[in-house]
Amino acid sequence: MNANDYNKILITGGAGYIGSVLTGLLLRSGFKVRVIDNLLFGGESLLGYLSHPGFEFVQGDVCSSDDVSKVLKGITGVVHLAAIVGDPACKKNPELATKINKSASEMLCQMSIDAEIKRFVFVSTCSNYGKMDDSDSYVDENSSLNPISHYAELKVGFEKYLLALGQKDFAPVCLRFATAYGLSPRPRFDLTVNEFCRELYLGRQLEVYGEQFWRPYCHTRDLANACRLALMVPAEKVAYQTFNVGSTNENYTKKELVDLILSKLPHRKDNVTFVVKKEDSRDYRVNCDKIRKALKFISVYTVRNGIEEIIMAMKNGIISNPDSKAYRNL
Ligand SMILES: NC(=O)c1ccc[n+]([C@@H]2O[C@H](COP(=O)([O-])OP(=O)(O)OC[C@H]3O[C@@H](n4cnc5c(N)ncnc54)[C@H](O)[C@@H]3O)[C@@H](O)[C@H]2O)c1
Repeated sequence: MNANDYNKILITGGAGYIGSVLTGLLLRSGFKVRVIDNLLFGGESLLGYLSHPGFEFVQGDVCSSDDVSKVLKGITGVVHLAAIVGDPACKKNPELATKINKSASEMLCQMSIDAEIKRFVFVSTCSNYGKMDDSDSYVDENSSLNPISHYAELKVGFEKYLLALGQKDFAPVCLRFATAYGLSPRPRFDLTVNEFCRELYLGRQLEVYGEQFWRPYCHTRDLANACRLALMVPAEKVAYQTFNVGSTNENYTKKELVDLILSKLPHRKDNVTFVVKKEDSRDYRVNCDKIRKALKFISVYTVRNGIEEIIMAMKNGIISNPDSKAYRNL
């Protein structure tokens, strides 16, 4: 199977943190790419692709059936990323989150089936696991889901919807992404690794709660590569399947993340305090062996690499204002 067999891909949310990395990867891999995005955080992330002959952009809304029917024409596969992303953003605007993350997602899926599109990659989240019963063990794709936010509930709901479709000649796949870190044409500094790096690099006080809580982490470029593989492998390997995306070796507690960052910024040791807060009790350590075995997916980057590149981008002035509103989802 090569890129030409699935040659025109629709990426919803392609201007976002992960979507803008995926767009570049698919274009470099020989796919044609059409992005639909309503540019909640601007569109500069796509500037580098505008002159590429394989790239098309439609400013549109996945909630609009007119926009969706327009962008599905001639498409062979969909990667669905557009969403209200993260617990805080969904908490702030729950109706809009339901409209986009549930209703529009269902409509996009139905219209993709009607358009005889064969591959549908849905980007879900490991947040679906919520809080593990036993924090000494690992969760895998067969573990029970325990969503503890509206964001995760909507992701779990749409996964269930997709996996129950049973539609022949349609291969939906759910990719449960680890928490992302690293650079992107649309940087985000509201995600743990990137945010902690910014705060400590800038010499601010960093209050860390839930220091013992586990979470899996994965670089934006590796996450994009998982989408590429999910598009390219034969349908029988992915149809109606769920995969955790990350590496079993790349689970960290927040305390471990802080220690890794401090190993690069040792003079900031006194800037960190650990506090008790009940705010976010997500605690999950994730086994990602299924995607490694089934799709031969390997994470190339580690959190250590991500920390180095984020600090470097601030140090050399490439990112001069990491506090920019454009770099966070709230
Ligand atoms: N970033 C992470 O750590 C992470 C982890 C797990 C899963 N995910 C999932 O990956 C996907 C992308 O996340 P991200 O970090 O790139 O977020 P992001 O907010 O940077 O990107 C989302 C994009 O979707 C677009 N969008 C939102 N509503 C839209 C609409 N109605 N119509 C068209 N476009 C719309 C936004 O403009 C934005 O460009 C999301 O589905 C998210 O749930 C992300």
